[in-house]
Amino acid sequence: FSKSVKLNTGAEMPTVGLGTWKSQPGAVEHAVEFALKNGYQHIDTAAAYANEKEVGQGIKASGVPRESIFLTTKLDNFDQATAEKALEDSLNNLGTTYLDLWLMHWPAPMKRVDGKLLPDKTLDWLDTWKSMEKIYKAHPEKLKAIGVSNFSVEFLERLLEVATVVPAVNQIELHPSCPQQELVDFCTKKGIVLTAYSPLGSDGSPLLKNETVLEIATKYNVTPANVLVSLQANRPNVTVLPKSVTNERILSNKTIIDLTEEDIAKLQAIDKTHHFRACHPDWTGWGSLGFPDCK
Ligand code: A2P
Repeated sequence: FSKSVKLNTGAEMPTVGLGTWKSQPGAVEHAVEFALKNGYQHIDTAAAYANEKEVGQGIKASGVPRESIFLTTKLDNFDQATAEKALEDSLNNLGTTYLDLWLMHWPAPMKRVDGKLLPDKTLDWLDTWKSMEKIYKAHPEKLKAIGVSNFSVEFLERLLEVATVVPAVNQIELHPSCPQQELVDFCTKKGIVLTAYSPLGSDGSPLLKNETVLEIATKYNVTPANVLVSLQANRPNVTVLPKSVTNERILSNKTIIDLTEEDIAKLQAIDKTHHFRACHPDWTGWGSLGFPDCK
């Protein structure tokens, strides 16, 4: 891999991967094929994105050998009681025999009742982690690594007290308006790699028009998106998932530039006046999930 971060399993995770949250099934197959044909080696999806089949078709259409790709998917909140079956479904959908990384999507077991999405208070996500550990140990040929997503410090502390496998990754929202430095530092100390989702700030992001971002983009003659992806890629222990279904953007988004300490300090200052989250953990009905800015 051109630039990568080492996981606590010893495996290398390519620093830039293609995000596919909100990538429609009709567009994502092409996006994945195009990305892989043009140098991406890391694809991220989730059962909840309802596009695993098309992601799998894109991988196949690219002709890139499976072992040259780092592939992540996630256990859906609605499948926490049936993790083993959910893994089989994901493997079948993706048309692969193994995952490089399987994440618990949220520490929030959910159920559907009369079309409503409700927290399933009969389940504990810690039991789900134990199931994932069991499957990982029993089937190393199916899972190269396991991890979590949307875990705050508080939730990781609870997990680490009993875990027999330290999560390889915690995938969280990271961009200048949601830097989560304390969580990044905590994970780094524990040997957990961070993966940044929504590094551009997601759909319609004000960050792409932010004055500081534009100023730094002009200085290096790159796009605002390049600056935002590079900000995450320049953080130690962080990998990053820009999402796009547009060829030209997919091509451009994998460019990482070196930022100076001064650039980084300027970008970090954005949060003081323009804090936001694109994805609010409290949609699950489980509350803030320990994220201090989501009370
Ligand atoms: P699209 O997929 O239509 O190209 P994030 O990675 O933070 O979730 O942001 C994804 C959003 O940013 C999508 O709306 C995506 O649009 C858009 N996007 C992706 N790459 C770029 C880029 N290089 N310039 C501008 N917008 C981009």
